[in-house]
Amino acid sequence: MRAMNAAEIRAALAEPIISVEDLVKVYRGGVRAVDGVSFEVKRGEIFGFLGPNGAGKTTTIMMLITLLRPTAGRGRVCGRDITVEPDEVRARIGYVSQDIAVDDTLTGRENLFLQGHLYHLTKDLIAERCREVLEMVDLTDRAGSRVSTYSGGMRKRLDIAGGLIHRPELLFLDEPTLGLDIQTRRRIWDYIRLLRDRENVTIFMTTHYMEEADQLCDRVAIIDHGKVAAIGSPSELKAGIGGDLLFVEVEERPVGPAPSPDVSTEGAEFSSFLAGIEGVSRVTVQDGRWVLVVSSGELAAPRVLSAVAGRGHTVRSLAMKKPTLDDVFLHYTGRALREDEGSSDFLRRRIGLRRARA
Ligand SMILES: Nc1ncnc2c1ncn2[C@@H]1O[C@H](COP(=O)(O)OP(=O)(O)OP(=O)(O)O)[C@@H](O)[C@H]1O
Ligand SMILES: [Mg+2]
Repeated sequence: MRAMNAAEIRAALAEPIISVEDLVKVYRGGVRAVDGVSFEVKRGEIFGFLGPNGAGKTTTIMMLITLLRPTAGRGRVCGRDITVEPDEVRARIGYVSQDIAVDDTLTGRENLFLQGHLYHLTKDLIAERCREVLEMVDLTDRAGSRVSTYSGGMRKRLDIAGGLIHRPELLFLDEPTLGLDIQTRRRIWDYIRLLRDRENVTIFMTTHYMEEADQLCDRVAIIDHGKVAAIGSPSELKAGIGGDLLFVEVEERPVGPAPSPDVSTEGAEFSSFLAGIEGVSRVTVQDGRWVLVVSSGELAAPRVLSAVAGRGHTVRSLAMKKPTLDDVFLHYTGRALREDEGSSDFLRRRIGLRRARA
Protein backbone atom coordinates (compact mmCIF):
# COMPACT_ATOMS: atom_id res chain seq x y z
CA MET A 1 0.00 0.00 0.00
CA ARG A 2 1.35 3.45 -0.98
CA ALA A 3 1.93 5.88 1.90
CA MET A 4 -0.37 8.89 1.92
CA ASN A 5 1.11 12.35 1.55
CA ALA A 6 0.22 15.18 3.96
CA ALA A 7 -2.51 16.63 1.72
CA GLU A 8 -4.15 13.21 1.34
CA ILE A 9 -4.06 12.64 5.10
CA ARG A 10 -5.68 16.04 5.72
CA ALA A 11 -8.35 15.32 3.10
CA ALA A 12 -9.09 11.91 4.63
CA LEU A 13 -9.43 13.39 8.13
CA ALA A 14 -11.73 16.17 6.90
CA GLU A 15 -14.05 13.63 5.27
CA PRO A 16 -17.00 12.58 7.45
CA ILE A 17 -16.27 9.24 9.11
CA ILE A 18 -19.77 8.07 8.14
CA SER A 19 -21.78 9.41 5.24
CA VAL A 20 -25.04 7.84 4.24
CA GLU A 21 -27.30 8.76 1.35
CA ASP A 22 -30.86 7.52 0.82
CA LEU A 23 -30.19 4.22 2.56
CA VAL A 24 -33.08 1.77 2.31
CA LYS A 25 -33.63 -1.70 3.74
CA VAL A 26 -36.67 -3.74 2.85
CA TYR A 27 -36.70 -7.13 4.59
CA ARG A 28 -38.03 -10.21 2.93
CA GLY A 29 -41.74 -10.12 3.53
CA GLY A 30 -41.83 -6.44 2.71
CA VAL A 31 -41.01 -4.63 5.99
CA ARG A 32 -39.45 -1.31 5.00
CA ALA A 33 -37.27 -1.02 8.12
CA VAL A 34 -35.07 1.82 6.83
CA ASP A 35 -36.77 4.14 4.41
CA GLY A 36 -34.36 6.55 2.74
CA VAL A 37 -32.03 7.69 5.49
CA SER A 38 -29.29 10.31 4.89
CA PHE A 39 -26.82 11.74 7.42
CA GLU A 40 -23.16 12.37 8.13
CA VAL A 41 -21.06 11.75 11.24
CA LYS A 42 -17.91 13.79 11.84
CA ARG A 43 -14.70 12.35 13.18
CA GLY A 44 -14.56 12.62 16.98
CA GLU A 45 -18.30 12.94 17.50
CA ILE A 46 -20.57 10.99 19.79
CA PHE A 47 -23.49 10.63 17.40
CA GLY A 48 -26.81 9.21 18.55
CA PHE A 49 -29.68 7.55 16.73
CA LEU A 50 -32.72 8.16 18.95
CA GLY A 51 -35.97 6.39 18.24
CA PRO A 52 -38.60 4.01 19.65
CA ASN A 53 -38.72 0.21 19.29
CA GLY A 54 -38.80 -0.83 15.66
CA ALA A 55 -37.70 2.57 14.32
CA GLY A 56 -34.92 0.99 12.23
CA LYS A 57 -31.89 1.74 14.44
CA THR A 58 -30.38 -1.76 14.54
CA THR A 59 -31.09 -2.29 10.85
CA THR A 60 -29.18 0.90 10.01
CA ILE A 61 -26.22 -0.21 12.16
CA MET A 62 -26.21 -3.66 10.54
CA MET A 63 -25.90 -2.07 7.10
CA LEU A 64 -23.14 0.32 8.24
CA ILE A 65 -21.10 -2.52 9.73
CA THR A 66 -21.63 -4.48 6.48
CA LEU A 67 -23.51 -7.42 8.03
CA LEU A 68 -26.65 -6.55 6.08
CA ARG A 69 -26.80 -5.50 2.44
CA PRO A 70 -28.78 -2.32 1.74
CA THR A 71 -31.74 -2.61 -0.62
CA ALA A 72 -30.83 0.81 -2.05
CA GLY A 73 -28.70 3.86 -1.30
CA ARG A 74 -25.05 4.44 -0.54
CA GLY A 75 -22.91 4.51 2.56
CA ARG A 76 -19.26 5.28 3.27
CA VAL A 77 -17.66 4.31 6.58
CA CYS A 78 -14.04 5.25 7.42
CA GLY A 79 -13.54 6.34 3.81
CA ARG A 80 -14.71 3.01 2.30
CA ASP A 81 -17.89 2.02 0.53
CA ILE A 82 -20.00 -0.36 2.63
CA THR A 83 -21.10 -2.49 -0.31
CA VAL A 84 -17.92 -2.39 -2.42
CA GLU A 85 -15.26 -2.70 0.32
CA PRO A 86 -16.89 -4.43 3.30
CA ASP A 87 -13.64 -6.03 4.55
CA GLU A 88 -11.87 -2.65 4.59
CA VAL A 89 -14.76 -1.22 6.59
CA ARG A 90 -14.78 -4.08 9.10
CA ALA A 91 -11.06 -3.76 9.78
CA ARG A 92 -11.57 -0.16 10.95
CA ILE A 93 -14.67 -0.44 13.11
CA GLY A 94 -15.76 -1.98 16.38
CA TYR A 95 -19.29 -3.16 17.09
CA VAL A 96 -21.08 -3.95 20.32
CA SER A 97 -24.47 -5.51 19.66
CA GLN A 98 -27.74 -4.78 21.38
CA ASP A 99 -27.63 -8.21 23.04
CA ILE A 100 -24.73 -8.90 25.36
CA ALA A 101 -22.40 -11.23 23.51
CA VAL A 102 -19.98 -12.37 26.21
CA ASP A 103 -19.55 -16.05 27.14
CA ASP A 104 -20.65 -16.73 30.72
CA THR A 105 -18.50 -19.82 31.13
CA LEU A 106 -15.26 -17.95 30.44
CA THR A 107 -13.50 -15.32 32.53
CA GLY A 108 -13.50 -11.68 31.47
CA ARG A 109 -9.90 -11.94 30.24
CA GLU A 110 -10.62 -15.15 28.30
CA ASN A 111 -13.54 -13.45 26.56
CA LEU A 112 -11.27 -10.63 25.46
CA PHE A 113 -8.62 -13.07 24.23
CA LEU A 114 -11.27 -14.73 22.11
CA GLN A 115 -12.26 -11.36 20.61
CA GLY A 116 -8.64 -10.44 19.85
CA HIS A 117 -8.18 -13.82 18.20
CA LEU A 118 -11.21 -13.18 15.97
CA TYR A 119 -9.51 -9.99 14.79
CA HIS A 120 -6.31 -11.98 14.02
CA LEU A 121 -4.18 -10.09 16.53
CA THR A 122 -0.96 -11.73 17.72
CA LYS A 123 -0.86 -13.24 21.21
CA ASP A 124 1.45 -10.51 22.54
CA LEU A 125 -0.67 -7.75 21.10
CA ILE A 126 -3.83 -9.31 22.55
CA ALA A 127 -2.21 -9.45 26.00
CA GLU A 128 -1.20 -5.80 25.76
CA ARG A 129 -4.58 -4.64 24.46
CA CYS A 130 -6.40 -6.73 27.11
CA ARG A 131 -4.54 -4.91 29.87
CA GLU A 132 -5.41 -1.55 28.33
CA VAL A 133 -9.10 -2.15 27.71
CA LEU A 134 -9.67 -3.87 31.07
CA GLU A 135 -8.18 -0.82 32.74
CA MET A 136 -10.34 1.45 30.62
CA VAL A 137 -13.60 -0.21 31.67
CA ASP A 138 -12.45 -0.69 35.25
CA LEU A 139 -12.50 -4.50 35.25
CA THR A 140 -8.83 -5.30 35.90
CA ASP A 141 -9.56 -6.64 39.37
CA ARG A 142 -12.29 -8.99 38.15
CA ALA A 143 -10.67 -10.08 34.87
CA GLY A 144 -9.88 -13.54 36.23
CA SER A 145 -13.43 -14.27 37.42
CA ARG A 146 -16.00 -16.12 35.40
CA VAL A 147 -18.48 -13.82 33.67
CA SER A 148 -21.34 -15.77 35.31
CA THR A 149 -20.36 -13.95 38.52
CA TYR A 150 -20.54 -10.47 36.92
CA SER A 151 -23.39 -8.00 37.34
CA GLY A 152 -25.31 -6.76 34.28
CA GLY A 153 -23.32 -3.53 34.18
CA MET A 154 -19.98 -5.39 34.40
CA ARG A 155 -21.02 -7.64 31.50
CA LYS A 156 -21.89 -4.65 29.39
CA ARG A 157 -18.55 -3.01 30.19
CA LEU A 158 -16.76 -6.22 29.23
CA ASP A 159 -18.78 -6.32 26.03
CA ILE A 160 -17.72 -2.76 25.20
CA ALA A 161 -14.09 -3.65 25.99
CA GLY A 162 -14.38 -6.49 23.45
CA GLY A 163 -15.37 -4.00 20.77
CA LEU A 164 -12.21 -2.00 21.46
CA ILE A 165 -9.60 -4.73 21.46
CA HIS A 166 -8.39 -3.99 17.91
CA ARG A 167 -8.31 -0.19 18.41
CA PRO A 168 -11.08 0.79 16.00
CA GLU A 169 -11.39 4.36 14.71
CA LEU A 170 -15.14 4.10 14.98
CA LEU A 171 -17.22 2.18 17.49
CA PHE A 172 -20.86 1.21 16.93
CA LEU A 173 -22.81 0.74 20.14
CA ASP A 174 -26.35 -0.58 19.73
CA GLU A 175 -28.34 0.39 22.85
CA PRO A 176 -25.31 0.36 25.17
CA THR A 177 -27.34 0.84 28.36
CA LEU A 178 -30.55 -1.04 27.62
CA GLY A 179 -32.16 -2.29 30.81
CA LEU A 180 -29.37 -1.10 33.14
CA ASP A 181 -30.11 0.96 36.26
CA ILE A 182 -29.46 4.68 36.14
CA GLN A 183 -26.17 4.59 38.11
CA THR A 184 -24.73 1.93 35.81
CA ARG A 185 -25.98 3.83 32.78
CA ARG A 186 -24.18 6.95 33.95
CA ARG A 187 -20.96 5.00 34.44
CA ILE A 188 -21.24 3.61 30.89
CA TRP A 189 -21.75 7.19 29.66
CA ASP A 190 -18.50 8.13 31.42
CA TYR A 191 -16.65 5.30 29.65
CA ILE A 192 -18.07 6.34 26.30
CA ARG A 193 -16.91 9.94 26.87
CA LEU A 194 -13.50 8.66 27.95
CA LEU A 195 -13.16 6.64 24.76
CA ARG A 196 -13.86 9.67 22.66
CA ASP A 197 -11.75 12.11 24.68
CA ARG A 198 -8.76 9.93 25.45
CA GLU A 199 -8.72 7.37 22.65
CA ASN A 200 -10.11 9.55 19.84
CA VAL A 201 -12.70 6.91 18.99
CA THR A 202 -15.74 8.23 17.13
CA ILE A 203 -18.96 6.79 18.56
CA PHE A 204 -22.13 5.92 16.68
CA MET A 205 -24.75 4.76 19.15
CA THR A 206 -28.44 4.03 19.22
CA THR A 207 -30.75 4.60 22.12
CA HIS A 208 -34.38 5.03 22.93
CA TYR A 209 -33.58 6.83 26.19
CA MET A 210 -33.94 10.52 25.50
CA GLU A 211 -31.88 11.64 28.54
CA GLU A 212 -29.04 9.50 27.23
CA ALA A 213 -29.14 11.16 23.82
CA ASP A 214 -29.45 14.56 25.46
CA GLN A 215 -26.60 14.24 27.92
CA LEU A 216 -24.16 12.10 26.01
CA CYS A 217 -24.46 12.83 22.30
CA ASP A 218 -22.93 15.78 20.46
CA ARG A 219 -25.48 15.35 17.70
CA VAL A 220 -28.63 13.29 17.47
CA ALA A 221 -30.73 12.00 14.61
CA ILE A 222 -34.33 11.38 15.61
CA ILE A 223 -35.52 8.30 13.75
CA ASP A 224 -39.08 7.05 13.44
CA HIS A 225 -40.60 4.49 11.05
CA GLY A 226 -37.31 4.19 9.17
CA LYS A 227 -36.94 7.90 8.46
CA VAL A 228 -34.85 10.67 10.00
CA ALA A 229 -37.34 13.16 11.42
CA ALA A 230 -34.78 15.70 12.66
CA ILE A 231 -31.04 15.98 13.11
CA GLY A 232 -28.82 18.34 15.12
CA SER A 233 -27.21 18.91 18.51
CA PRO A 234 -29.61 18.38 21.43
CA SER A 235 -29.69 22.14 22.08
CA GLU A 236 -30.33 22.94 18.40
CA LEU A 237 -33.14 20.41 18.31
CA LYS A 238 -34.72 21.80 21.45
CA ALA A 239 -34.35 25.38 20.21
CA GLY A 240 -35.97 24.25 16.94
CA ILE A 241 -39.28 23.83 18.78
CA GLY A 242 -39.32 27.62 18.98
CA GLY A 243 -39.54 28.35 22.70
CA ASP A 244 -40.89 27.08 26.01
CA LEU A 245 -43.86 24.80 26.50
CA LEU A 246 -46.99 25.54 28.48
CA PHE A 247 -49.27 22.66 29.40
CA VAL A 248 -52.73 23.96 30.11
CA GLU A 249 -55.61 21.91 31.46
CA VAL A 250 -58.97 23.63 31.25
CA GLU A 251 -62.22 22.64 33.00
CA GLU A 252 -64.47 20.86 30.58
CA ARG A 253 -67.33 23.30 31.01
CA PRO A 254 -67.05 27.06 31.11
CA VAL A 255 -67.75 28.50 34.60
CA GLY A 256 -69.96 31.49 35.43
CA PRO A 257 -73.61 32.10 35.96
CA ALA A 258 -74.67 31.83 32.36
CA PRO A 259 -72.18 30.08 30.18
CA SER A 260 -72.96 30.58 26.57
CA PRO A 261 -73.80 27.22 25.00
CA ASP A 262 -71.59 27.72 21.96
CA VAL A 263 -68.37 27.96 23.98
CA SER A 264 -66.49 24.67 23.94
CA THR A 265 -63.07 23.96 25.36
CA GLU A 266 -62.58 21.37 22.68
CA GLY A 267 -62.05 21.64 19.01
CA ALA A 268 -60.65 24.05 16.54
CA GLU A 269 -62.32 27.13 17.86
CA PHE A 270 -60.68 26.99 21.30
CA SER A 271 -57.41 26.03 19.69
CA SER A 272 -57.41 29.13 17.51
CA PHE A 273 -58.42 31.22 20.51
CA LEU A 274 -55.30 29.95 22.35
CA ALA A 275 -53.16 30.46 19.25
CA GLY A 276 -54.30 34.08 19.14
CA ILE A 277 -52.85 34.90 22.59
CA GLU A 278 -49.75 37.08 22.32
CA GLY A 279 -46.52 35.04 22.32
CA VAL A 280 -48.18 31.70 21.47
CA SER A 281 -46.77 30.21 18.26
CA ARG A 282 -48.21 26.68 18.19
CA VAL A 283 -51.08 24.79 19.83
CA THR A 284 -51.46 21.01 20.07
CA VAL A 285 -53.24 18.58 22.39
CA GLN A 286 -51.52 15.86 24.42
CA ASP A 287 -53.15 13.63 27.06
CA GLY A 288 -56.13 15.96 27.43
CA ARG A 289 -53.98 19.04 27.90
CA TRP A 290 -53.35 21.92 25.57
CA VAL A 291 -49.66 22.23 24.73
CA LEU A 292 -48.65 25.75 23.75
CA VAL A 293 -45.28 26.67 22.29
CA VAL A 294 -44.50 30.15 23.61
CA SER A 295 -41.53 32.44 23.12
CA SER A 296 -41.20 32.94 26.90
CA GLY A 297 -43.02 30.80 29.45
CA GLU A 298 -42.70 33.45 32.16
CA LEU A 299 -44.38 36.13 30.04
CA ALA A 300 -46.99 33.94 28.41
CA ALA A 301 -48.29 32.08 31.51
CA PRO A 302 -50.12 35.08 33.10
CA ARG A 303 -51.47 36.12 29.71
CA VAL A 304 -52.87 32.66 29.06
CA LEU A 305 -54.45 32.52 32.54
CA SER A 306 -56.23 35.85 32.15
CA ALA A 307 -57.29 35.23 28.55
CA VAL A 308 -58.80 31.84 29.44
CA ALA A 309 -60.50 33.31 32.54
CA GLY A 310 -61.75 36.22 30.45
CA ARG A 311 -63.47 33.73 28.23
CA GLY A 312 -65.27 32.21 31.17
CA HIS A 313 -63.20 29.07 31.71
CA THR A 314 -61.29 27.77 34.71
CA VAL A 315 -57.71 26.66 34.30
CA ARG A 316 -57.34 23.42 36.24
CA SER A 317 -53.58 23.30 35.90
CA LEU A 318 -50.82 25.13 34.14
CA ALA A 319 -47.27 23.87 33.91
CA MET A 320 -44.29 25.43 32.23
CA LYS A 321 -41.40 23.43 30.83
CA LYS A 322 -38.22 23.98 28.89
CA PRO A 323 -38.34 21.54 25.96
CA THR A 324 -36.68 18.11 26.20
CA LEU A 325 -35.79 15.75 23.37
CA ASP A 326 -39.04 13.97 24.16
CA ASP A 327 -40.88 17.16 23.21
CA VAL A 328 -38.72 17.39 20.08
CA PHE A 329 -39.75 13.85 19.19
CA LEU A 330 -43.40 14.73 19.72
CA HIS A 331 -43.01 17.93 17.69
CA TYR A 332 -41.67 16.10 14.63
CA THR A 333 -43.53 12.79 14.81
CA GLY A 334 -46.81 13.72 16.50
CA ARG A 335 -46.40 11.16 19.29
CA ALA A 336 -44.42 10.78 22.48
CA LEU A 337 -41.24 8.74 22.59
CA ARG A 338 -42.06 7.61 26.11
CA GLU A 339 -45.23 5.83 25.06
CA ASP A 340 -43.12 3.20 23.37
CA GLU A 341 -40.68 3.06 26.25
CA GLY A 342 -43.02 2.57 29.16
CA SER A 343 -46.23 1.04 27.99
CA SER A 344 -44.99 -1.98 26.09
CA ASP A 345 -43.61 -5.09 27.67
CA PHE A 346 -41.34 -5.48 24.66
CA LEU A 347 -38.31 -4.22 26.55
CA ARG A 348 -38.75 -6.51 29.54
CA ARG A 349 -39.37 -9.42 27.23
CA ARG A 350 -36.21 -8.70 25.32
CA ILE A 351 -34.09 -8.34 28.45
CA GLY A 352 -35.51 -11.66 29.61
CA LEU A 353 -34.55 -13.29 26.35
CA ARG A 354 -31.07 -11.89 26.56
CA ARG A 355 -30.55 -13.25 30.06
CA ALA A 356 -31.85 -16.63 28.98
CA ARG A 357 -29.38 -16.72 26.13
CA ALA A 358 -26.37 -15.55 28.17
N1 LIG B 1 -34.72 -9.97 10.08
C1 LIG B 1 -35.84 -9.26 9.95
N2 LIG B 1 -36.82 -9.65 9.10
C2 LIG B 1 -37.96 -8.93 8.95
N3 LIG B 1 -38.22 -7.79 9.61
C3 LIG B 1 -37.28 -7.34 10.47
C4 LIG B 1 -36.05 -8.05 10.69
N4 LIG B 1 -35.31 -7.38 11.60
C5 LIG B 1 -36.05 -6.30 11.93
N5 LIG B 1 -37.22 -6.27 11.26
C6 LIG B 1 -38.28 -5.23 11.35
O1 LIG B 1 -37.71 -4.00 10.92
C7 LIG B 1 -38.17 -2.92 11.71
C8 LIG B 1 -36.98 -2.21 12.33
O2 LIG B 1 -36.33 -3.06 13.23
P1 LIG B 1 -34.98 -2.68 13.99
O3 LIG B 1 -34.53 -3.86 14.76
O4 LIG B 1 -34.04 -2.06 13.03
O5 LIG B 1 -35.53 -1.54 14.97
P2 LIG B 1 -34.82 -0.83 16.22
O6 LIG B 1 -35.01 0.63 16.02
O7 LIG B 1 -33.44 -1.33 16.41
O8 LIG B 1 -35.76 -1.29 17.42
P3 LIG B 1 -35.39 -1.66 18.97
O9 LIG B 1 -35.39 -0.35 19.71
O10 LIG B 1 -36.55 -2.50 19.37
O11 LIG B 1 -34.08 -2.36 18.99
C9 LIG B 1 -39.13 -3.51 12.71
O12 LIG B 1 -40.42 -3.37 12.18
C10 LIG B 1 -38.73 -4.98 12.76
O13 LIG B 1 -39.82 -5.79 13.09
MG1 LIG C 1 -32.48 -2.31 17.93
